[in-house]
Amino acid sequence: MNNRFPDHFLWGAAASGPQLEGAGSKYGKGKTVWDYWFETEPEKFYQQIGPETTSSFYSRYKEDILLMKDIGFNSFRTSISWARLLPDGTTINQEAVTFYRDVFSRLRENGIKPIVNLYHFDMPYRLHKKGGWENRETVEEFYRYAKAAFQTFGDLVNTWVTFNEPIVPVEMGYLNDKHLPAVYDLERAARAAYFTLLAHGKAVSAFRELANNGEIGIILNLTPSYPKSDLAEDREAAKWADILFNRSFLDPVVFGKYPVEMTEFLAKETIDVPYTDKELVLLMNNTVDFLGVNYYQPRRVQAGDKETGAGLDKYFKPYHWPKAKINPHRGWEIYEKGLYDIALNIRDNYRNIPWYVAENGIGVEGEEAFLDEHGEVQDDYRIHFMADHLRWLQKGMAEGANCFGYHVWTFLDNWSWLNEYKNRYGLLRLDLATQTRTKKKSAQWFKQVAETNQLPA
Ligand code: NOJ
Repeated sequence: MNNRFPDHFLWGAAASGPQLEGAGSKYGKGKTVWDYWFETEPEKFYQQIGPETTSSFYSRYKEDILLMKDIGFNSFRTSISWARLLPDGTTINQEAVTFYRDVFSRLRENGIKPIVNLYHFDMPYRLHKKGGWENRETVEEFYRYAKAAFQTFGDLVNTWVTFNEPIVPVEMGYLNDKHLPAVYDLERAARAAYFTLLAHGKAVSAFRELANNGEIGIILNLTPSYPKSDLAEDREAAKWADILFNRSFLDPVVFGKYPVEMTEFLAKETIDVPYTDKELVLLMNNTVDFLGVNYYQPRRVQAGDKETGAGLDKYFKPYHWPKAKINPHRGWEIYEKGLYDIALNIRDNYRNIPWYVAENGIGVEGEEAFLDEHGEVQDDYRIHFMADHLRWLQKGMAEGANCFGYHVWTFLDNWSWLNEYKNRYGLLRLDLATQTRTKKKSAQWFKQVAETNQLPA
């Protein structure tokens, strides 16, 4: 098989403002929900490491961009911090403008295309206090922010993303306790999801109104859902997992409409989503130019407890596939073929819209155990992980999938929400005490792949 990727294939990594920048309370940045949470409940955060310093990209970005170039990147995705650009919601923070403009310019000067995301889980605290995504006002604020970002950086950035993994704050904040508000409430979850989607639609409309030259998309974490068996009830469970966690965003952003089953679900659960006809028209008319897909692991499900189950348990329940290959250093399943299944699903069911792998990577706890005598992490597991996924991706592309790039999560070990630096994902190691960056073995491998545009034989 030809193991070359198409010309101009994007190679690089993804990261986000809150996980990489640091300077959490400096240079005019407003407070985010994470800053607030850490101030009030630091014990929730692994080793009580907060969002203030993270990986100090704010002060080291010049060096980091050169490192990116050195390991073959031709693209890099990060996010703008909403609370940094518009600390009070209306006044543009000039220090933020200077910082981001320099970052984007230097990326370009070094042949690295910036892909810029507007929202990566970092709700400004002032909006969180008023209900965050449960409040329609946040949608208007986001529209204003999106417009400001397009106007301020549109000459430097051609490729924009509205949201990274919009289902995650919904799932982790309203069906789990990993993001604020940390409650279990299906009705509030549905409301937050709807307003997030509406904010996405409004941002796309702002983009089109400004007639920017570039393209705009959204990044979704797609988790292919596999049933425990071929029995109808297990297949039904997989269908529901897919509808609620993938199609609830995927269908509206690609086709401008909800899956019909979503309406069925809301009626069954007597959830009243406060949409208006005007808003549905807005969503219908604002579909994306491309998709970013984050893929880490699939979802294995079995039939739910239809009669007795609470909440989503009625629809499906998790299932541990006995044959699953588990990452021993993190616990997540590794299923490379999932990426191929995603590729064919987009080809067959989502009008083969252009898409790229916006995140794929392996988190490893205790990575210092793999340091060799020269201080280099011998992360062969990461090389295998990427190579195996890329092989399945190539198979999908050979069969017609319209994929234009691969971004690893991530460039440099970074701060991961409540987990902080527990699971390391970088091609570069971060020494937390000194903030020194050191290439891991995988960085060299990535460079070779990116520069030759093919997998080593
Ligand atoms: C997806 C998210 O976009 C990112 O913020 C997170 O750190 C990685 N997954 C790893 O869990």
